[in-house]
Amino acid sequence: MDLATVVLAAGKGTRMKSKLPKVLHNVCGQTMLSYVLDAAHEAGISKIIVVVGYGGDQVVREVAGRAQIVHQPEQLGTAHALLQAGPFLNNFSGHVLVLCGDTPLIKAGTLTGLIRSHKSTNAVATVLTTILENPTGYGRVVRNRQGGIAKIVEQRDAAPEELQICEVNTGIYCFKSAGLFADLGNLSTDNAQGEYYLTDIIEKNVERGRRVEAVALANPLEVKGINDRVQLAEAECYMRRNILSELMFSGVTITDPQSTFIDKKVRVGQDTIIHPCTFIEGVTVIGEDCVIGPGAHLTDTVVGNGVSIQHSFIEESRIGDGCSIGPYSHLRPGNSLGRRVKIGNFSEVKKSVVGDNSKVSHLSYVGDAYLGKNVNIGAGTITCNYDGHNKWPTRIDDGVLTGSNTNLVAPVKIGAGAITGAGSTITKDVPAGSLAVERSKQKVILGWNERDRSEKG
Ligand code: UD1
Ligand code: CA
Repeated sequence: MDLATVVLAAGKGTRMKSKLPKVLHNVCGQTMLSYVLDAAHEAGISKIIVVVGYGGDQVVREVAGRAQIVHQPEQLGTAHALLQAGPFLNNFSGHVLVLCGDTPLIKAGTLTGLIRSHKSTNAVATVLTTILENPTGYGRVVRNRQGGIAKIVEQRDAAPEELQICEVNTGIYCFKSAGLFADLGNLSTDNAQGEYYLTDIIEKNVERGRRVEAVALANPLEVKGINDRVQLAEAECYMRRNILSELMFSGVTITDPQSTFIDKKVRVGQDTIIHPCTFIEGVTVIGEDCVIGPGAHLTDTVVGNGVSIQHSFIEESRIGDGCSIGPYSHLRPGNSLGRRVKIGNFSEVKKSVVGDNSKVSHLSYVGDAYLGKNVNIGAGTITCNYDGHNKWPTRIDDGVLTGSNTNLVAPVKIGAGAITGAGSTITKDVPAGSLAVERSKQKVILGWNERDRSEKG
């Protein structure tokens, strides 16, 4: 293995004005840093070192198991950050790819292209550059008369004529590891920010007559560094459009991409239609021929084929083929619905199993419950699952019908084919095939209305 990657991710990201480390801000449901790690993995790089500093513990948690960690106790600049990885690469004689944790749009193919080009020219350093219409904030790439790279000058240190340059440093480089860390240790902080600039290593190498190359990338959006929340929203917008386009090209109809928000890891099957004002988040997987939305909000949910979901919120649940959810249903985490289940108007279901063809059609709460097949839950039926201290289970076997406004005081079991009378508060198990009614006898007082009026009069 002749390639290692160092991801610089120690900066606070002052311009984000945030308590959260910059690289942990999300774009389409994943942290910026995770996209950079994904790209490196996809490019086939197995040795990845992440430099962490500000908010270290949180960043370490995010990286856990995916890369090695090195700490930069004080954020003294990008060169100082890379230098911290030195001890990890002592006996390493290959090339070092440097990435920044704040470029979430980077593609694996761009990295492999840069590496290939770097190796083919035998340069000591290759910088990935791009041309920006508005280069404000970026380091400018200063070229010599022959068109070769002479140095990189930061915005704050640039002379007026250098500020006119539109070719910028993307912050992504490939270096020969031999001598790199020794050179990094010899840089100064003689600049506007008083920091050790990694960019200075370019000029140092050029001065010594070593070969340095700059490779320009055609699509500047891909290497956009995110420094503030306006840029964060721009990255989100760009990535969102890409995610939606990929889905549409793969056979998914999205009626209004402007009002549809789908996270990067979401998978959607062929001929599914996604209607407006819909949010599909986390690692949600949706099957074929579904109709999702309008107004659906799904997080970390697995949906089968031919499912319809309207104006509903579904969290961490499994929905079988042919189910119909909504309008206005809330599935809280931990549900598993069989096939052709119906959860309807204003019903809430939590941590429950619902068997094939069962219906919870109106105004119900079903929590910590097991429902068999062909169960019909009458309007307003409530599982009373909480006694103030503990949660208790309810079991409702195949073919049960609960009358409207049944209260099922858990723990309780309703046997197969049993029926409960409307308005009953069921506190004892109901045997299979029986009817349980719990309500006082209706009293009728004849002529009450007239009596009432004559008394008043
Ligand atoms: C840097 C480059 C600039 C380039 C731009 C591209 C330098 C001096 N400048 O500027 O030429 O155009 O990226 O986006 O390198 N970091 C650390 N430790 C530190 C400082 C920074 O780990 O002490 C990390 C940050 O977390 C970030 C990356 O390095 O992921 C870049 O730092 P940032 O402050 O964003 O640099 P820019 O000013 O954008
Ligand atoms: Ca940056």
